[in-house]
Amino acid sequence: MSSEPSMSDIDLSAIKTIDDLDVEGKRVLVRADLNVPIEDGEVADDTRIKRVLPTLAKLKQGGAKVILMSHLGRPKGERSPETSLRPVAKRVEDLLNGGPVLFLDDCVGPDVENDLKALGPGDVAVLENLRYHKGEESNDIGFAKQLAKLGDIYVDDAFSSAHRAHASVEAIAHLMPAYAGKLMMAEINALTKALADPKRPVMAIVGGAKVSTKIDVLKNLATCMDVLVVGGGMANTLLNAQGVNVGNSLYEPDFVDTVKEVMASAKKAGCEIFLPVDEVVAKDLVPGAEWNVCDVNAIPNDMMVLDQGPKSIERLKQRLGEMSTLLWNGPLGAFEVAPFGKGTLALAEEAGRLSQEGKLVSIAGGGDTVRALNMVGATPSFTYVSTAGGAFLEWLAGRQLPAVIALANSQTPAQTAVA
Ligand code: 3PG
Ligand code: MG
Repeated sequence: MSSEPSMSDIDLSAIKTIDDLDVEGKRVLVRADLNVPIEDGEVADDTRIKRVLPTLAKLKQGGAKVILMSHLGRPKGERSPETSLRPVAKRVEDLLNGGPVLFLDDCVGPDVENDLKALGPGDVAVLENLRYHKGEESNDIGFAKQLAKLGDIYVDDAFSSAHRAHASVEAIAHLMPAYAGKLMMAEINALTKALADPKRPVMAIVGGAKVSTKIDVLKNLATCMDVLVVGGGMANTLLNAQGVNVGNSLYEPDFVDTVKEVMASAKKAGCEIFLPVDEVVAKDLVPGAEWNVCDVNAIPNDMMVLDQGPKSIERLKQRLGEMSTLLWNGPLGAFEVAPFGKGTLALAEEAGRLSQEGKLVSIAGGGDTVRALNMVGATPSFTYVSTAGGAFLEWLAGRQLPAVIALANSQTPAQTAVA
């Protein structure tokens, strides 16, 4: 639909991995996404830290001096105690379980350069928040050069930041021999498996409140999926485009024409758009609210759609059973408020079960989706669960991710090239 360059134009096979990389005694600068929630000065969810451990373990084993860098929050060039990576460094130390982790209270400059001299093979240091320097977000080459001075080799393991053209993921990859870490490769491989070369039939489920935030995702998926399920408030706008009165539900009248175009392009590409046939409705979105089930063509004017109805969920489960691949981003309803999570959670369980039985390749991403999977314990059953939110969506929208392009285009200087 669009002539914008997309991920499929990139030669991903040009990306170098750390698999056979000799790192013995080398200073390896690792960009991770350690942007984790901090509560009362402590890490509240360490999933992202855990997911980068295989890369750290591999580098440590190989005798590298590992220097970890990340952003946390959006401090916009100013230091602030809430956005310090100090508690993250502590958690890295606990999880690595092998010697102290050195924390440095800045990420560039002579003091940092000097302090890093203390690192020996297998040691790990964590630098302070990259976003305390404005040059990070402006992709400033001078700032990238200051970072590059700290290492001999650059490893990017921050897929969830790959949609940002920032100095630590973009500019730097052109200054040093650049490699993708294990998590970066796992994310790239999972998304390629679902989008570029899926085992068919392939279904995408896209949910969430607003069509406006995911319109490019729908546009792109309508051209390459066999079935496109739209859920959550987004589905209301599509239903309305088909003439359905959605009552008091969240929907976006300004996007009705755009979704009509999406539906037309899906039809042309042979992609089935799958919408609910019945709904769970209530007057208010509050826990324990009184609710009803109604046919999609009989939504009362004073009620809002908060979940898909039982018939819709059964139909969806049945259709899912006919699929070989599932790509999922976004809930089917207001899942975080009981009892409006039934549809989303039932679907999470079913997709988990089919994956566990080896009948489905399932790939999920985005904060809400991962939360829903965790609520029913389906995460370990899924084939792949992404750590990314924004980057996952950008890829689904077909857009190029600056950090992935930088890795694919980075040249390895001959003297550091490895077999
Ligand atoms: C994320 O949490 O989505 C990534 O860490 C990127 O953070 P950002 O949206 O502040 O760039
Ligand atoms: Mg974000």
